[in-house]
Amino acid sequence: MLAKIKRESKKGKESLSKLIHIMVKTYILIWDGSKKYMFLSFAFTIFSGILVPVTSIIWGRFINAVTDALANNEISNAIYWMILSVSINIIIGTIGYIKHYLSYMEAQCMNRYISKILFDKMRRVKVSAFDDSNFYNYVQKINNESVTRTSSIMQTSLKCVESIVSIISTLVIFIKFDFGIIIYCFLSCLPVLYINMKIAKKQYDVYNHRFEKLRYIINLKNIFTRYECVKELKVYRLHEFISNKILNYNDKFINEDKKIRSRFTIENAIADGVKNVLSGALKFLVLIKTIANRLQIGQFVTYIQLLDQLQVDISILFNVVQSFFEDGLYIDDLYRFLDDLNIEEKKGGINLIGGIQTIEFINVSFKYPGLERWALKNISTKFCQGDFYALVGINGAGKTTFIKLILGLYEPTEGRILVNGIDLNQLNKESYFKMFATVFQDFIKYPFNVYENIGIGLIENIDNCEEIEQAGILSDIDSIIQRLPSKYNTKLLREWNEAVDLSHGQWQRIALSRAFFNKNANVVILDEPSSALDPEAEYNIFRKFEEISEHKMRIVISHRLSNIKKATCIILLKDGEIVGKGDHQDLYDKNEDYQKLYDMQAEGYV
Ligand SMILES: Nc1ncnc2c1ncn2[C@@H]1O[C@H](COP(=O)(O)OP(=O)(O)O)[C@@H](O)[C@H]1O
Ligand SMILES: [Mg+2]
Repeated sequence: MLAKIKRESKKGKESLSKLIHIMVKTYILIWDGSKKYMFLSFAFTIFSGILVPVTSIIWGRFINAVTDALANNEISNAIYWMILSVSINIIIGTIGYIKHYLSYMEAQCMNRYISKILFDKMRRVKVSAFDDSNFYNYVQKINNESVTRTSSIMQTSLKCVESIVSIISTLVIFIKFDFGIIIYCFLSCLPVLYINMKIAKKQYDVYNHRFEKLRYIINLKNIFTRYECVKELKVYRLHEFISNKILNYNDKFINEDKKIRSRFTIENAIADGVKNVLSGALKFLVLIKTIANRLQIGQFVTYIQLLDQLQVDISILFNVVQSFFEDGLYIDDLYRFLDDLNIEEKKGGINLIGGIQTIEFINVSFKYPGLERWALKNISTKFCQGDFYALVGINGAGKTTFIKLILGLYEPTEGRILVNGIDLNQLNKESYFKMFATVFQDFIKYPFNVYENIGIGLIENIDNCEEIEQAGILSDIDSIIQRLPSKYNTKLLREWNEAVDLSHGQWQRIALSRAFFNKNANVVILDEPSSALDPEAEYNIFRKFEEISEHKMRIVISHRLSNIKKATCIILLKDGEIVGKGDHQDLYDKNEDYQKLYDMQAEGYV
């Protein structure tokens, strides 16, 4: 039993020091995010804290003045106290509005500031972190909660300051009357504090437990509102199927909430009842004392008001503790995310000078994080500057995974990748990425105008309209863009105002323009960039790529083998392994798999 108490108290001390640590971090965060509003908010709060008990005193004086006025027909004193009381109320009201304004502005600044630090962090996060569903839960939770929780901590701190100032000023007045009453007053608020903290912890646990399901619901709801989904939803008649999934979750939550919330209601009601009984007893004590000491009615009213105020202030103070505890639980997720270095790319590293000459895979095998299956097995091959490589193989053979490893987006599970003889892990990633012009299979369709959609291919050069238009001409999209309402300034993606949409093939040309635009790159990687193009367009674009990037290292995945016949080296992948390597003729003559793949396509073309 003793050991259990010791354990509990140790746990309590640990969580208190953790809470203090979180609070300090949060104040630093708020100070960094909105210095001016934080300072002004505290200043106004201290001022209004002082005014609270002053109001009660003035009100008491006013009542005494009214009593005197009734006795000797002299009203001027009562009017004086009344004007003072009204003036104080006006000041308190005005300060209330100012504080409201400051807290709104502070929340806006914090919103911006937290977004900024999250963007900075996301930029450093490794691609492999995205393979863990917990990562998405984390990020979503942080996005949902961080701003409200920091604002709440700020507001709670202000309330805390205000009630401490108010309690101190009240105590100064009360101490003359009866110190014991103050102690009772504190004790009467304890049950509510205990219950509220218990409820806050339970709510946080329920929230965490539900989070992935909540994220899933949001995802399903988004399907209803996305333009690219609407066709399929209609034709497959999916609305009911998907909405039932969402509604089933809602039913589950409602049933859980029924139990949890009804228990909260009972516990809250009991705690509040206890507080009210104790508060009644306190007022009775004040009444007895007033009669025993033969005090004036004005003093009695002041003391009762101050007692009520004291109880409110103490409750606020205790609520503050509970609120800090609750916000601390949520905001801690933000700090754990920001401090988690395991999900970040390594800092620093060697900057490649003079571009990439060779990329060499030595016995590289790779599994996606958390999976047992090898996506790539024992790969040994070398890519050299100026040569044209093609990766071929059926769906799921590992082609895109291969590209991800070349780009350093994942580290090999076994083996090494050397770039110009240096281990890829030791290179500075940002400088390494700059060497590549890459078009992914699942490239992004950005809600930007055409200039920007192409210009992002070399972000440092995004304002160079002339070169962007040249890239458009090379990928054969220029003539289509010329017909758009604002040509290259036309915004893309239908869901936005005044924007237009393109067909998937046209979007692929936009994506290819990004690679044409990035002339600085010395390695070009194209992962099935032309699957939606008609054969003629595809042929033309590949020919232009050949002309332009002849002197560069090119690594191309194409579903049409006729496009890559000219490759210096074709690498045939099967179940993550290299099962054939050589030029087209070589492979066709010697490799049965390649022959089959090629003949099948050749038949299709006839
Ligand atoms: N992010 C991922 N997490 C887990 N498995 C993946 C991931 N991406 C691809 N895979 C798996 O790795 C294998 C190879 O995929 P991929 O390289 O995309 O094939 P390909 O590009 O040749 O069609 C497939 O079995 C696929 O399911
Ligand atoms: Mg692929």
